[in-house]
Amino acid sequence: MRVLMVAPPGAGKGTQGAVIAAHFDVAHIATGDLLRDHVARGTELGLAVRHHLDSGDLVPDEIVLDMVRDAMVAAKERGGGYVLDGMPRNIAQARSLYRTAQTLGMTANVALHLKAEDDELMRRLLARAALEHRADDTEPVIRRRLALYQDATHPIIAWYAERGILVSVDAMQPVERVARQILTALEAMRPLLEHVPEHARRPVDLTGLGAAFGLDA
Ligand code: AP5
Repeated sequence: MRVLMVAPPGAGKGTQGAVIAAHFDVAHIATGDLLRDHVARGTELGLAVRHHLDSGDLVPDEIVLDMVRDAMVAAKERGGGYVLDGMPRNIAQARSLYRTAQTLGMTANVALHLKAEDDELMRRLLARAALEHRADDTEPVIRRRLALYQDATHPIIAWYAERGILVSVDAMQPVERVARQILTALEAMRPLLEHVPEHARRPVDLTGLGAAFGLDA
């Protein structure tokens, strides 16, 4: 299973990425976590990217791409599956990532879009700010991150729809329901992924199924 996630801040990339990784026993590659780890350790890379993270801006593409390439090589050694959380963030990253993954024989077979509204995302991230202390969880920086998502990241979704690998899920539901919907969709698709060429597949849109999934949960 090779999944990449395209979703706004607070939609649940980290939360659902961990669920997917555990369910399919694949690597969870989270670019934000990798970058924050560099900042915490005070590495050269961490010092170079700190102000981008603090202000909610994107780190330069080549830095993230190098980091993700290394993580994908490690994922290949442990079987080749992955869930990539946090990349791509713009169309240039999407193209570079595709080339890198192609070289490694590891192109994503699902692009998972978690759809949620800005008011709810702001609420979640401000709630997290009260518990954890991420430097970018302040209201103005969250606004900046949401705007960047709309401008730079959201347009990539159409690219994955055209490629035939898009799966969209309603992330406004409770965590467990979102997880159930994602795992049900991925399990249903699993037998097809290696056998049906991408161009013969169609985008899967589950965003209207919220109530039907798990009302009896
Ligand atoms: P990153 O760490 O990826 O931050 P983000 O995209 O802003 O996303 P978050 O981690 O805030 O949210 P999430 O979607 O993972 O949701 P989560 O599960 O945590 O990136 C940070 C920074 O690194 C970027 O701003 C940029 O500077 C840099 N960066 C990273 N990747 C880059 C790239 N490719 N290129 C350039 N720069 C890059 O959940 C959030 C909260 O909501 C949690 O408290 C959770 O418990 C809660 N929650 C989750 N789901 C639900 C639910 N369904 N209902 C209720 N609460 C929920």
